[in-house]
Amino acid sequence: MKKVTFYIDDQPCQAEDGKNFVDAAAENGISIPSLCYYPHIDPPLATCRVCTVAIGGQPRAACSLKVSEGLRVQVNTPDLIENRKAILELIFAEGNHFCPACEKSGDCDLQHLAYESGITYSRFPHTFVDRIVDFKPERLVIDHNRCILCKRCVEEFVTDSGKKVFSYHRRGGRTEVNVDYELEAEMSDKELTRAMRLCPVGAILLRGKSESRPFGDRKYDKPESQEAIPLTTPVEKPVVPAKKKVVATASLAGCFGCHMSMLDIDLGLLDLIELVSFDKSPLTDIKRFSRHVDIGLIEGGCCNSENIENLEYFREHCDILVSVGECAIWGGLPAMRNTISLEACLEEAYLHSPVTRNAQHIIPNHEDIPKILDRVYPCHEVVKIDYHIPGCPPSAQHIWKVVQNILFGTKYDVIYPEFKYD
Ligand code: SF4
Ligand code: SF4
Ligand code: FES
Repeated sequence: MKKVTFYIDDQPCQAEDGKNFVDAAAENGISIPSLCYYPHIDPPLATCRVCTVAIGGQPRAACSLKVSEGLRVQVNTPDLIENRKAILELIFAEGNHFCPACEKSGDCDLQHLAYESGITYSRFPHTFVDRIVDFKPERLVIDHNRCILCKRCVEEFVTDSGKKVFSYHRRGGRTEVNVDYELEAEMSDKELTRAMRLCPVGAILLRGKSESRPFGDRKYDKPESQEAIPLTTPVEKPVVPAKKKVVATASLAGCFGCHMSMLDIDLGLLDLIELVSFDKSPLTDIKRFSRHVDIGLIEGGCCNSENIENLEYFREHCDILVSVGECAIWGGLPAMRNTISLEACLEEAYLHSPVTRNAQHIIPNHEDIPKILDRVYPCHEVVKIDYHIPGCPPSAQHIWKVVQNILFGTKYDVIYPEFKYD
C-alpha cells in the first residue's frame, strides 16, 4: 500500500495510507495511551477517550483516526498530556479500584497507563459507587467495580448465530455489562481465557485461573516493559546538612505496613540518621511534638474523629506533609466500606456477622470512643497534602529517596519497579 507523510507535533512521520493513527504513531516511535482500542475491532470503539489528541486544536480520539497525506496531529502538548492524565484519574475515581486486592494488578492496562502518566493520586473525589461482583456465571466472575465500559467484550464475543455473550444493560451512569449465563456456559476454556485477557482491567476473571501469574511474571513486571519508562537516574548522595532536618510520622487508618516498610531501609538507617532526626512518631514513641518539624509522613486515611484531629495536629506542626501509601492517598482497603452505608457496616460488624456474640444488640457508641466517620477520607480531603508516595506499601528505598529529594534536592527519578499502587 502507498506510504504517506503525516505530522505528529510537527515531526514528519510515515505510514501506510489509511493505517490506524495509534498504530501508525507507534511505528514511528510515538506511544499514544489507549485502553479501549483493540486493533481487531473495526470500527474502533472509541469509548474511553484516553487517546485524546487534537487536530487544529479540536480534540479527537486518536484510535478512530486514519493517517492520510499531510495530516497534522498534536499529541504531546502540555494541555493534551494533562487532559489524558485527568481522564485516567476520572476513570479511577468513577469505579472502585482497590489495586492491592485485585487479581489483575500488574497485568492491568489502566494501572500501567497510570504509572506511565505519573499519577500519584486522583484530583477527583472517588465516587465509591455501590456495584456488585457477579458470581452467577458458571466459570467467569464479573466485577462491575472495575469495569470501565470499554465495550471490548461486548463487540468481541458473538456466537455464530449473532448472539452476544456480553451486552450492555441499562443506560447512562447506570450502564453495566450483562453476561448471558447460558452462552457463557457454552464457551470453551480458550475463549474464557481470551475474555479475561481481552478485558483491559480486572473486570472479567476466570475462576481458578486469575491468580496464575505470580509477581515478577506479570505483564508489566517484565524488564522489557520497564525500558519504555525513561525514569532512571542515579541518586546523588546528599550533602550532610549543618543542622539535621526533623522528621515526624503518623499512622492513621492503615495497617502500619508503611511504617514497617520505612524500617526496611535496614543499614540505610545509619546514613539517614546523619541527615535527619525524628520527633513525634510511633517509631520513637514520642507522643507530642516537641518542635516544629520539616517533614511529616502520614500513613493511613481518616476513618474516625481521632484520625482527623491527629492529621490536623500534624498539618499545624509540619512544613511539608506527605501522604505515604494507598490508605493515606485515597483511603485504600479501609475505604472498601465506603461503598455501603455506615449503618449497614456497623450492623454487619456488631450484630449480624457470623462470629458476633452480642446478646444485647449494642453497637458501641461511648463518648470516649472516637466517632466513626460516614466514610474513610483520604488525607488530602482533610488538610493540604504537599506530596503523595503511592504503593501498598511503597518500598523503603522509595520512601527515603523521595524524602531526601524533597528535603535536600537530591536528584531522584522513580524507576518503574518502585512506582506501584499494589
Ligand atoms: S489492577 Fe486495574 S482493574 Fe484492578 S483495581 Fe487496579 S486499576 Fe482496577
Ligand atoms: S468487562 Fe472488561 S472488556 Fe468488558 S466492558 Fe468492562 S472493562 Fe471492557
Ligand atoms: S483508546 Fe481511543 S477512545 Fe479508547
